[in-house]
Amino acid sequence: MSSAAERPLRLFFALWPDDRVRIALAAAAGALRKACDGRTTPAENLHMTLAFIGDVPAGRLPELQHIAAGLGAASFALTLDCIGWWRTQRLVWAGTTACPHDLASLVDRLAARLHADGFRTERRGFKPHVTLLRDARTTPARENIEPLRWHAEDFVLACSEPAVRGVRYRIVGKWPLQHSAGL
Ligand code: 2AM
Repeated sequence: MSSAAERPLRLFFALWPDDRVRIALAAAAGALRKACDGRTTPAENLHMTLAFIGDVPAGRLPELQHIAAGLGAASFALTLDCIGWWRTQRLVWAGTTACPHDLASLVDRLAARLHADGFRTERRGFKPHVTLLRDARTTPARENIEPLRWHAEDFVLACSEPAVRGVRYRIVGKWPLQHSAGL
């Protein structure tokens, strides 16, 4: 039998929306579902993945917490203003036409630190998105949404766990993003 430290956790770093952004995204998901069918992401699960790590022994959690605590990345605002569709995965998502430099930098720094410490992350180019629908049947008719401003003040480490219906994401750590002096 494996020990608690060896038990794998399915982990990812993400931005978690505040109530205002979450409510607006949930409303957008509900509206899109009428046209595209599929399953809406439960409101409490809405997020933007920064780095997907996958299965990691629970005993390595402190290493990930150490990486996050030492990152010292800057806070930023992003605007979700477009809707995308990945046909093969049948995902409909909300994204941005202007990825902020500080978001790209946060993702790059996280990936670099994770790789340096021997964690594997998805190597394909980062595409900032919040998944709104899974198993969508058709392309969304609209490519834009009412621009939604999201002030990212912190980032989280989340653990994906099976739930009665789908998955639930448990937040296992949260770290502030830094404000520049004078702002
Ligand atoms: P998705 O929303 O585009 O499916 C938890 O599963 C989070 O990690 C989701 O945001 C999911 O992205 C992302 N994720 C799951 N598997 C992944 C993978 N192999 N590569 C990158 N991201 C992944």
